[in-house]
Amino acid sequence: MSKELKKIAIYGKGGIGKSTTTSNISAALVEAGYKVLQFGCDPKSDSTNTLRDGKYIPTVLDLLRKNPKVDAHDAIFQGFEGVYCVEAGGPAPGVGCAGRGIITAVELLKQQNIYEELDLDYVIYDVLGDVVCGGFAVPIREGIAEHVFTVSSSDFMSVYASNNLMKGIKKYSNAGGALFGGIIANSINNPYQKAIIDDFVSRTGTGVVEYVPRSITVTSSELSGRTTIEAAPNTPQAEVYRSLARKIAAHTQSKVPTPLETEELREWSASWADQLLAIEAGEVRGERASI
Ligand SMILES: Nc1ncnc2c1ncn2[C@@H]1O[C@H](COP(=O)(O)OP(=O)(O)OP(=O)(O)O)[C@@H](O)[C@H]1O
Ligand SMILES: [Mg+2]
Repeated sequence: MSKELKKIAIYGKGGIGKSTTTSNISAALVEAGYKVLQFGCDPKSDSTNTLRDGKYIPTVLDLLRKNPKVDAHDAIFQGFEGVYCVEAGGPAPGVGCAGRGIITAVELLKQQNIYEELDLDYVIYDVLGDVVCGGFAVPIREGIAEHVFTVSSSDFMSVYASNNLMKGIKKYSNAGGALFGGIIANSINNPYQKAIIDDFVSRTGTGVVEYVPRSITVTSSELSGRTTIEAAPNTPQAEVYRSLARKIAAHTQSKVPTPLETEELREWSASWADQLLAIEAGEVRGERASI
């Protein structure tokens, strides 16, 4: 291979903004001249839609079911500015393990040396779930990704999912698994939301890669079937995604995080419950007071 391929996985709670964020990172990286493949690892197979005008593509597992000797090229489609798009797909509903499906899909591309052939700079996996199921730890465990990022808002369930992901990374770190790159803080529009995420990353020995506001520009872009980078390239939100993509591109120092134990996480959230009530009651002055 002529250059070094960087392998990145993006995790996070369901519906938190993984596919939106991942697609905007991919779009910003191709726009900057890199060769990028986005690999959707969600049975819904909707990861790469906004890179292709809202259109769905056949999944690797669908193609494999039709022809066990499928040519991997048949599962690769190009989108915005030549970005490569692949969807792993999933087992038939109610049958089989979606995590195993990811292994099968990734293996197919590996066996046929697709990453080398396409001379990629980045492959970005958009992964469903929060690593409660071992199958979804696959990109961490099997050396498929090197750097793992999680998308999180300041909501407790989202922080909880990020903490679980960190537990998964810590567990496999001695066996050469992927390391943690940081949190992509999504839907951060208020100082108290920023303060909650900042506190969580300081407790877990990690960091925030970028703060991404919740923005109607993203909604409007999605409704037009496109990323914000494509649909609204001159907006502040597109600049936020470009900044995020630059940081991810330059990122090298991933590490083993220090996730909170369940009891610690409970105490941590309870302390924030008290602080937020105090803010609402107007008892707190200073930055955290301005909700
Ligand atoms: N920063 C943002 N501003 C506005 N809307 C956003 C933002 N981030 C995500 N969204 C919206 O939230 C919804 C869910 O986002 P997305 O599909 O990317 O989440 P996901 O984590 O991939 O979900 P799933 O777990 O179902 O795959 C989408 O409608 C998306 O447009
Ligand atoms: Mg998604």
